Amino acid sequence: MNETLEGILKEVHQIRDQIKDVETLENFRVKFLGRKGLLANLADELKSLDDEKKKKFGYQFNLAKKEIESVYEELKQNLVQEPKVRFSFRHPGQKPLVGHLSPISLALNQAIKIFTNLGFKTILGSEIENEYYNFDALNIPADHPARDLWDTFWLDQKKEEEVDKKNQRSKKNKNKNTDRYLLRTHTSPSQVHYLEKNFPPFRIIIPGKVFRYEATDKTHEFEFHQLEGLAIGAGANLAELKGVLEKFFSEFYKKNLKIRLRPAYFPFVEPGLEFDVECIFCLNQKKKGCAICKQSGFIEIGGAGMVHPFVFKSVGLDSSKNYGYAFGLGLERIIMIRYKINDIRLFHSNDKRFIEQF
Ligand code: DAH
Repeated sequence: MNETLEGILKEVHQIRDQIKDVETLENFRVKFLGRKGLLANLADELKSLDDEKKKKFGYQFNLAKKEIESVYEELKQNLVQEPKVRFSFRHPGQKPLVGHLSPISLALNQAIKIFTNLGFKTILGSEIENEYYNFDALNIPADHPARDLWDTFWLDQKKEEEVDKKNQRSKKNKNKNTDRYLLRTHTSPSQVHYLEKNFPPFRIIIPGKVFRYEATDKTHEFEFHQLEGLAIGAGANLAELKGVLEKFFSEFYKKNLKIRLRPAYFPFVEPGLEFDVECIFCLNQKKKGCAICKQSGFIEIGGAGMVHPFVFKSVGLDSSKNYGYAFGLGLERIIMIRYKINDIRLFHSNDKRFIEQF
């Protein structure tokens, strides 16, 4: 083979292993295959040879050129292309991220199931209420200090004269504060809506979101969930209420729990009471009391009582012929007890470290 060609090929094979990036590859191309490169120079020489030599040299030249080109292509492939992905059908697939119900929905579903088994129907109320249903109909008139118990988010208020005019026009709403809207501060207004449209006997629960215009801390949120209960009809007395609550909490916490009733004031019940559940953390200890129930053996849960005659009157039912009990509890509270969650704000924090635990 022509000596020059031989020298060129030798050099190509010497340096090919040193080519590790696109820039040196390009230098390689320019040097050997470029328009003014070594091969091109040789091709010029080819022209001046006689036919016999031209044929022989031309043949060798083309072989060498092909070889250099294939070296170049190979180097280029290795540099430019990603290494080929090897695929195995036995390789485990990527697990898709699947969400799950929040602790609130989980507890709510469980609560609905238990109450359904106890004969309660589930009703959903509206998160926007007017003043009448949230307060007045529940025996909490505008000037009554009891309103202070429920700090309220009022919605866009109409001008007072407009409100007066409208009330004068509509006979039905005469003397009813139906024009000021708010985010319900409790689920109790749904009692009134239901009582207006349905005749006893019935037993219902009303779960849902409620809103309070107040500063948040570990035990207070401006948005949380309540579960309201209302039972009207024969047998709907405080003894039944106690039994229902006892059954509910025993199933909810999967422990045999006692209920304690204490007198308390809520304007829409008479007598009114607060109820406590036996502390699930020191239940089976000889000496009852722990840090969580503050050594009392019971944990405060919610309010209840016998429906006030005023409420029956608000909805046009005869309070001498109808009676029943109502109760309300905070859903987050009973979940917090179950899991020993010490900050209610965690429920709405969107913190995956919290949510993923359920
Ligand atoms: N609505 C009350 C609150 O938000 C809770 C409550 C108390 C509901 C007594 C009731 C009841 O139905 O009878 O504080």
